[in-house]
Amino acid sequence: MRNVVLLGPPGAGKGTVASRLVREFGFLHVSTGDMLREEVARGTPLGQLAQGYMARGELVPDEVILSLVRQRVDAQKGVLFDGFPRTVAQAEGLERFTSVDVVVFLEVERDEVVRRLSSRRVCGTCGAVYNLVTQPPREPGKCDRCGGALIQREDDKPEVVARRFEVYMRDSAPLVAYYERRGILRRVRADLPPEDVFRAVAEALR
Ligand code: AP5
Repeated sequence: MRNVVLLGPPGAGKGTVASRLVREFGFLHVSTGDMLREEVARGTPLGQLAQGYMARGELVPDEVILSLVRQRVDAQKGVLFDGFPRTVAQAEGLERFTSVDVVVFLEVERDEVVRRLSSRRVCGTCGAVYNLVTQPPREPGKCDRCGGALIQREDDKPEVVARRFEVYMRDSAPLVAYYERRGILRRVRADLPPEDVFRAVAEALR
């Protein structure tokens, strides 16, 4: 099984595609955003350190992220990296402990991600992701999967979303050229309905 990176701006749909890829293909899902939110919720020293960066829409320092990921995946195969790597230094660090076989770049314009993030809601209990416009829950405010209450992520406020996008353009967008040079980048249009995006990603992985 191959190691796959999902790359794309905030709100591109990385988490949405990842949860289905994990269900259908059995990848080990490594979402650094989810791992950090768990640390914050548990109030660990790492969570306390990460919280401020996340609330401002800044990146958590590379060495913190690399040691977190390394503990989870050392030399494993069949890993789906979601939201990682996010800087060239993280990509170089990752190569020191495992390989990357395919990078799927979810391409979508800024206006569309801003729209998506303003209407995103997540389950405060199990983390399932919804959208009030495109993927609403069956019952308003309630998770279909576990019945938990749906909440808005702190970093989905418009001013933080704007900062996250700037940080993405400055630090993460260069990874497109980085992986293109290695010949492993696959571009997928992510401004289509979720089913179409999933199909295009699955095709890119064949
Ligand atoms: P993280 O949680 O990774 O946030 P992100 O990369 O900004 O991505 P999002 O989770 O916001 O969006 P997504 O692409 O997963 O989209 P989703 O599927 O939810 O990181 C959060 C923070 O943690 C960072 O800002 C940073 O501080 C820190 N961090 C994390 N990793 C780090 C790292 N490696 N290094 C340093 N710091 C790190 O979809 C969005 C919405 O759109 C949803 O409502 C969904 O229902 C909807 N939607 C999805 N697909 C579609 C579609 N095709 N059509 C219409 N709507 C759709």
